[in-house]
Amino acid sequence: MLTVRDLNVRYGDVLALEALSFAVGPGQIIGLVGGNGAGKTTTLSAISGLVKGRTGTIELDGQDITRLAAHQIVEHGLIHVPEGRRLFPFMTVQENLEIGAYGKAARARKGRQLDVVFGLLPKLAERRQQLAGTLSGGEQQMVAIGRGLMSCPRLLMLDEPTLGLAPMLVEDIFVLVKTIRDSGVPVLIVEQQVVHVLECADYAYVLESGRCAMQGLGHTLLQDDGLRRAYLGL
Ligand SMILES: Nc1ncnc2c1ncn2[C@@H]1O[C@H](COP(=O)(O)OP(=O)(O)OP(=O)(O)O)[C@@H](O)[C@H]1O
Ligand SMILES: [Mg+2]
Repeated sequence: MLTVRDLNVRYGDVLALEALSFAVGPGQIIGLVGGNGAGKTTTLSAISGLVKGRTGTIELDGQDITRLAAHQIVEHGLIHVPEGRRLFPFMTVQENLEIGAYGKAARARKGRQLDVVFGLLPKLAERRQQLAGTLSGGEQQMVAIGRGLMSCPRLLMLDEPTLGLAPMLVEDIFVLVKTIRDSGVPVLIVEQQVVHVLECADYAYVLESGRCAMQGLGHTLLQDDGLRRAYLGL
């Protein structure tokens, strides 16, 4: 459904992405992994229309969306949950979620979609009236993802959703990512948690200095000696 071809992004003299191509199909979790500065966030921002100076083509279900403005890309259902939780701490869980219902279609479906989100995230339903700033880090990340789901995405893009979370909560996030995929929303996930992503993703791409260094089925990549040495210290 999402096809990225030959994407290049330049920040001044720095070539942050070079000839990156990848695809996300229906019902898939696609992982983009790589170290600091590899170009992961840049990839998501380029798809979302948040960076200038990019070339290449981005297609959604065969339609070229490369030149659309960021708000139009959101209207097409490509939803980007940025790094960091960015909640409104003095608003409740429910109010934070409702803010995610961008766009005409999502606003019209807000009530029903809130039930869908609480169905996927039952722990949040119990806490709907709690102030977001008093939630644990893991719960706040769940709200950030839930807020993305409020726009009724056709594709959800998550930037390092497990950053700073304890291992047990990291597990919870990956369980949630699979639940979202199984509910019919494909997920493009960017992470430094290489093992977890490769275990969970249907297919993954390894970025190094803005280029795709390796790609394959998550389980196949996990067996690769070069990858294990570079990212897992094995
Ligand atoms: N707005 C910007 N202006 C100039 N250079 C930038 C800008 N944003 C990113 N870069 C550079 O582009 C490269 C890729 O950055 P990016 O944020 O995409 O990496 P990342 O893989 O998300 O890293 P991290 O894991 O640390 O979040 C880095 O060298 C970074 O310094
Ligand atoms: Mg990043």
